[in-house]
Amino acid sequence: MPKNIVLVGFMGTGKSVVGKKLAQQLKYGFVDTDEIIQAECRRPIRKIFAEEGESRFRQMEREVIERAAAKDHQVIATGGGAIIDDQNFQALKRNGWIVWLKAEPDVILQRVGDAASRPLLDIEDPKSQIERLLNLRRAAYSKADAAVETSRRNIDEVVQEIVKLVFPA
Ligand code: S3P
Repeated sequence: MPKNIVLVGFMGTGKSVVGKKLAQQLKYGFVDTDEIIQAECRRPIRKIFAEEGESRFRQMEREVIERAAAKDHQVIATGGGAIIDDQNFQALKRNGWIVWLKAEPDVILQRVGDAASRPLLDIEDPKSQIERLLNLRRAAYSKADAAVETSRRNIDEVVQEIVKLVFPA
């Protein structure tokens, strides 16, 4: 049995809220990589992107993931772009079971709201950007051990499905 459960997938698929509940239920630790980056930089992600650029954010993301993957019995909620980097995927895979949370573009758009906190979607036509990035990222997300559709499910339903997948009766 792998020691961590890793949630990957696009923005707005519920990785953070689902991860927190899943960790509570399993009595696992909870790591949210975006939260750690923001706490360590004492700035919101939007500001890190604006002031230091996406590549600096990705560098910090790699460091945080390396540290998180070294622990065990953690639920790790990753940022939507984390798993695209194969170094991150390999680090998380070594010690974890990876679950891809999926959602339809319209549902993602609705969930991310005005997107002010998501610099990659804070643009004129976020719907096209969602579709474009989903297409680019699909192959990387598909390397997960399992996928869970979240579009028409509430948080508890998604949590229970993950529990069943990880610990089949
Ligand atoms: C990103 C997703 C965000 C955050 C950053 C970049 C992405 O995380 O890491 O804005 O590349 O998809 P969430 O998926 O938690 O919104």
